[in-house]
Amino acid sequence: MQDLLHEITRRQSSSGNSQLIGDLIGGATTPVGRRVRDCITGGSSCELQTGKNYERPGSLDSAACRADACCAWDFVQQDLVDRFRNENGTCNGLARAAVRLGFHDAGTWSMTSDIGGADGSLLLSSDEIERPENNGLQEIRSEGLRILDRYSSNGVTAADLVQFMHNVATVTCPLGPRLLTLVGREDRHEADPMGLIPSNNATNASYLIELFENKTITPQDLAALLGAHTVAQQFYVNPARAGQALDTTPGVWDTNFYQEMALPNSPPNVFRLPSDEALSLADGISQSFDTFTDVTSGQTVWNAQYASAYVRLSLLGVNKINQLTDCSHVLPDAITSFSASSSTPSSTSLGVPLLPNNPHVMIPGLVMGVFLSMPFV
Ligand code: HEM
Repeated sequence: MQDLLHEITRRQSSSGNSQLIGDLIGGATTPVGRRVRDCITGGSSCELQTGKNYERPGSLDSAACRADACCAWDFVQQDLVDRFRNENGTCNGLARAAVRLGFHDAGTWSMTSDIGGADGSLLLSSDEIERPENNGLQEIRSEGLRILDRYSSNGVTAADLVQFMHNVATVTCPLGPRLLTLVGREDRHEADPMGLIPSNNATNASYLIELFENKTITPQDLAALLGAHTVAQQFYVNPARAGQALDTTPGVWDTNFYQEMALPNSPPNVFRLPSDEALSLADGISQSFDTFTDVTSGQTVWNAQYASAYVRLSLLGVNKINQLTDCSHVLPDAITSFSASSSTPSSTSLGVPLLPNNPHVMIPGLVMGVFLSMPFV
């Protein structure tokens, strides 16, 4: 039954995006290359249905650990989970920033640029982080640089670390997907091309859709990626409302962002970005937003489509996809059910309430085949 459900949702969530990227254009010549080709074009899932499956062969500096390309990453994931998780099981402001950092590093690429993309330049270049669109990412960058400093002698590089931080953040947030996680990208120390990440004040849907299409990201993919705003706050769009979240539950990777975008007005104390408002009404995006609000299948379909779109995004500008190593097995387990009632009401370090305004509404949700009662919207 569960297999059938997954097959149905896989088909429903298939991105239908047949564009290849990087060296895959010349052919998927290795198992990793074929795995990536299939999952970013919708032939298989980029979301792993398996749990963590890794035993460290030794301590960090042991010969056995150094001989295994994924071993150091297992130490990194443990450090990150400690930093990203609140005591009540939700994910915190650093996790949210890590999700955005992954996008802002990888998104600096278009089909007409020879350089840019997922190359770690947002960590390594002191110029790129100063751009206005990267406001708010300074703290997570410093955190990333500290981790890089600690693990670089064990084979951890900036380009991989940024995307690894994104993938650990999503799976640390309750209900978040466990994404295909690859290492072996090349670092770039210089700033990437400008004008490829939307500004904080972007509002024009056609412009934004074209910006992403030039990165091989379709409107359907973009609709799924925008769901990352389920774990988001704003600080710079409207400084008078700094710290307001983009949905009622910014510590949980749920579909409340889509549900609340469908309301005539956002709930009290929830900030609706003008860009989200404009895109939610655009052709090619509004239909996906509707699909993701479905209380039975929305979460599963969205997670699968997010995985496909994000794995694509995380490989923009990478021209050795066939040579990458799959380290997905070191990622922590996904948290496939979550009830806010079992968690202590608390705030993040940034003062955002983790519990919603109406804690009595029961929403049945189907997450990876398990019915949940989530006592909040
Ligand atoms: C059209 C595309 C997008 C636009 C215009 C956009 C715009 C924004 C803006 C204006 C903010 C608030 C910044 C602030 O004032 O502090 C924000 C936050 C955020 N965005 Fe996006 N975004 C887009 C796509 C994405 C994508 C593709 C992702 C990830 C896959 C993403 C993840 C996030 C996250 C996680 C935050 C919250 C960061 C935090 O709370 O620290 N966004 N976005």
